Amino acid sequence: MTLTLVADAQQTKGNANVRVVNLSVAPARSTHVTAPVTGTNFNARTLYLRNCAHCHGADARGDDGPDLHGLDLTRDAITNRISRGKAGQMTAFAGKLQTAEINALAAYVLTLK
Ligand code: HEC
Repeated sequence: MTLTLVADAQQTKGNANVRVVNLSVAPARSTHVTAPVTGTNFNARTLYLRNCAHCHGADARGDDGPDLHGLDLTRDAITNRISRGKAGQMTAFAGKLQTAEINALAAYVLTLK
């Protein structure tokens, strides 16, 4: 069980005036913390679903974009494709995603056999 106590200390004419603004008892199951998808602490599959699935399909078997399974491409080629995209066909993700995220996506694509 987690007890969250947020106190707002106010100084009024020299008297310390502490006011409890939020007191909540969280249920036990909410003590499980889900890691945020950010920085180096992310899930490549989640990144894929957010950024790529609408063109390549949730299963990466292809939709508007091609099937990403068993590509005969190097990690560098895949990283470059994700970063630069392809004019008129695929979004360039450099600037939209962090380098670490792009690297994780390239590694994810390479797991698709
Ligand atoms: C706007 C739609 C779109 C989005 C979004 C998109 N792609 Fe693509 N992608 C394409 C198309 C279309 C091609 C094929 C372009 C071509 O003919 O070379 C492609 C090609 C690729 C290729 C090269 C495949 C090959 O056989 O040469 C890779 C790898 C790839 N995409 C990965 C990704 C990843 C990873 C993401 C998400 C970060 C992504 N794509 C997002 C449309 C998209």
